[in-house]
Amino acid sequence: MKILVLGSGGREHAFSWKISQSKKCEALYVAPGNAGTTGIATNVNLNVNDFDGIKDFVLTKSIDLVVVGPEDPLVKGIVDYFAEHEGLKNVGLVGPTAAGAMLEGSKDFSKEFMQKHSIPTAMYKTFTKDSLEEGLNYVSSHPLPVVLKADGLAAGKGVIIAQSHEEARNTLTEMLVDAKFGEASSRVVVEQYLDGIELSVFVLTDGNSYKILPEAKDYKRIGENDEGLNTGGMGAVSPVPFANTDFINKVEERIVLPTVNGLKADGIDYKGFIFIGLMNMGGDPYVIEYNVRMGDPETQVVLPRIKSDLVDLLEATANGNLDEVSFDIDHQAATTVVMVSGGYPGSYPKGYEISGIENVNEATVFHAGTKFNDSESVVTSGGRVLAITGKGDTVENALENAYNGVAKISWQDEYHRRDIGQDILRLLDK
Ligand code: AMP
Ligand code: GLY
Repeated sequence: MKILVLGSGGREHAFSWKISQSKKCEALYVAPGNAGTTGIATNVNLNVNDFDGIKDFVLTKSIDLVVVGPEDPLVKGIVDYFAEHEGLKNVGLVGPTAAGAMLEGSKDFSKEFMQKHSIPTAMYKTFTKDSLEEGLNYVSSHPLPVVLKADGLAAGKGVIIAQSHEEARNTLTEMLVDAKFGEASSRVVVEQYLDGIELSVFVLTDGNSYKILPEAKDYKRIGENDEGLNTGGMGAVSPVPFANTDFINKVEERIVLPTVNGLKADGIDYKGFIFIGLMNMGGDPYVIEYNVRMGDPETQVVLPRIKSDLVDLLEATANGNLDEVSFDIDHQAATTVVMVSGGYPGSYPKGYEISGIENVNEATVFHAGTKFNDSESVVTSGGRVLAITGKGDTVENALENAYNGVAKISWQDEYHRRDIGQDILRLLDK
């Protein structure tokens, strides 16, 4: 098969790494890719939102399967675009239609979907500029803290957890009236605060049947002990100790099944990944959010734990026969540590030469923000630069391998968290 992966991050390098191991893969392209994907695939200089350019490329190279990494092209309707164009109809796509991508593209839509299909989540109410007064009254009598969410995509920044009623009122006004997050905050979901431990469960579905992939916990804050600003993700660990069979069974019965069946009942053709952000509250799972793609850096721990041929799974997802494919999980643990540019998630310089990658043999190096400079050296070109994944019989061994890999790599002002997985080790100790 000829396969095209859309995206340029660590997630897409991890997809390419796993896809390239398949006997079925005869040619692999990544658009636009990064310095890491050049070793295993051909990078194509195309933007993920350039649907016409992607169409021309797919037709020229006779691509059989397209795997969409990020949410943006899904929300913008790349799957619908393929369905509308002669010659593209037979190309397999892994990713939902625009209607399905609303699960991530609109928080109000996803809350309504959960309510309609009795999927456990925080209680909520949605407000617009027209209902500002009602909204201000509502947040003023809401138990603290109160969670305010911009309805649309806001690059992971659209959630504010207000600790006082005054902060909640000000935030609601800023979002609705001052367009704090642009068009994304023209509607605001106000919801109950869920207190518990977070984890993410990933599902691959063809719209009828599904596979539950390994779960993961990520580390969103820039600083150790979860302090400081939110980032795209500073590390991840899989498995998560409290996600035992009993807990995952509850997730399947109360969340995965009603989600897949709900999409079908609502006439939404969903072929792709569902990333379910969950809160474990006293052993019961509640949905915090849906994403309509894999997570980054979660993919860098989830895919290394899948033993089955990923191309078999992706092809069956696109073709609608996922129930016929076997699926095996590796019981080893995987952890990834993200190495970032000093200054991230604020501004940071680019173009620093990276050294030591070739010395890493105990871990897998996934590239995110890297490129080649004019003298063919690998240099930094983004905030999140590399994700180093270690595996092991225990989370502790996996962490040791990942951090031994990290220690061999350097560039000017490199930063990483030294405490990835420490909370999991504490949970395991109990
Ligand atoms: P989201 O963009 O919906 O993933 O929200 C970002 C982060 O805000 C989540 O990963 C949670 O840590 C936190 N969060 C969102 N909604 C809630 C909630 N209802 N209760 C507690 N924390 C929340
Ligand atoms: N790591 C969180 C995300 O991919 O959205």
